[in-house]
Amino acid sequence: MKVAVLKESRPGENRVALVPQGVQALAKAGLEVMVESGAGVSAGVSDQDFRSAGAAVGTDGEALSGAGMVLAINPPSKEDVGRIPEGAIVVSFLNPLANTELVRALATRKVTAISMELVPRITRAQSMDALSSQATVAGYKAVLMAADHLPKFLPMFTTAAGTIRPGKALILGAGVAGLQAIATARRLGAIVEAFDVRPAVREQVQSLGAKFLETEHEVTAEGEGGYAKELSEEQHERELELIAAHIADADIVVTTAQIPGRKAPILITADMVRSMKPGSVIIDLAGETGGNCELTRPGETTVVHGVQILAPANLPAEIPVHASQMYSKNLVTLIGEFVDKEGNVALDFDNDVIGPSTVTHQGQVVNERVKQALGL
Ligand SMILES: NC(=O)c1ccc[n+]([C@@H]2O[C@H](COP(=O)([O-])OP(=O)(O)OC[C@H]3O[C@@H](n4cnc5c(N)ncnc54)[C@H](O)[C@@H]3O)[C@@H](O)[C@H]2O)c1
Repeated sequence: MKVAVLKESRPGENRVALVPQGVQALAKAGLEVMVESGAGVSAGVSDQDFRSAGAAVGTDGEALSGAGMVLAINPPSKEDVGRIPEGAIVVSFLNPLANTELVRALATRKVTAISMELVPRITRAQSMDALSSQATVAGYKAVLMAADHLPKFLPMFTTAAGTIRPGKALILGAGVAGLQAIATARRLGAIVEAFDVRPAVREQVQSLGAKFLETEHEVTAEGEGGYAKELSEEQHERELELIAAHIADADIVVTTAQIPGRKAPILITADMVRSMKPGSVIIDLAGETGGNCELTRPGETTVVHGVQILAPANLPAEIPVHASQMYSKNLVTLIGEFVDKEGNVALDFDNDVIGPSTVTHQGQVVNERVKQALGL
């Protein structure tokens, strides 16, 4: 089967879905990869690197022509969907619960669409979990960005010119991105405090050398599958009091709090921003679902009372080499769920990874969650 890898067209996107190691892995399973010329350049992979790994290189039209599988990172554009051969398998982030127009177009095109967002968060699927791999990149980069904007050092220094006290970081939401932000801030020598509504993460936060903030009355909201759910109004008030009591001391704040399928909870109010020291930096990673700070403007930098609030849109694209390498590994492992060692494709919808992550097949929307979102 021919596998097409196109150049990502989203502005600012530097990643590529498959790297040369991925090409080699798919070739072992009898798959032939064709990459659109220039697809890997921003991720440090030349056309020649792809050829050396065994891939063919062509125009986008050549890559798509006769392809049985299409691999991507960002949801395909309307034009791309129209050019994907009928019956092909598409594996990509698709944002299917919100992007209903795309889901309908994929179904009409009769492609089998597998959504990387819907890969279940089960232990067996960890190596296919691109939400996690890319959240790791985002959590790391968020702290570097904060440190870069901060007019201070983060680590402690003892120098002939005096002693510099270490900076303080506050991390809100300790999922995959939050834990990586904690680890990165610790590596840079900051004193780190963190909070999450899932008490299960307390130990993980502490094992990274950060302090888990405690409330007098418990604030917890653990929902299905270990995910957070929305807090009651009373619990939300308690959480805001807790954050207000700590944020004025923080030099950098990274927020990552999200609830699947919901608007991100507001954890930082305008008053809290006012209480912070000028020069402090907030990096809001929940910008795409509305933001965790009341003053966040998704995709923009806002300065209020000297506090810088950044809500970058696509941080994994800022570390394209490793973000692509990790995504490619996720894809190859996932493809191993439906392609055997001889290259035979067998989609088994009873498979506990393929079933829940398939959105469309043979002209139908087949995923229950997506059907609900579309009102089908
Ligand atoms: N394969 C696996 O086993 C696997 C892999 C990755 C994640 N997971 C699980 O998925 C879940 C979410 O992980 P994620 O990193 O994608 O999270 P996410 O990006 O969906 O959310 C980030 C964090 O925000 C927290 N949060 C939500 N509301 C909050 C609030 N009001 N205040 C503070 N924090 C709040 C959540 O608890 C979560 O930890 C976790 O249970 C995690 O263990 C499992």
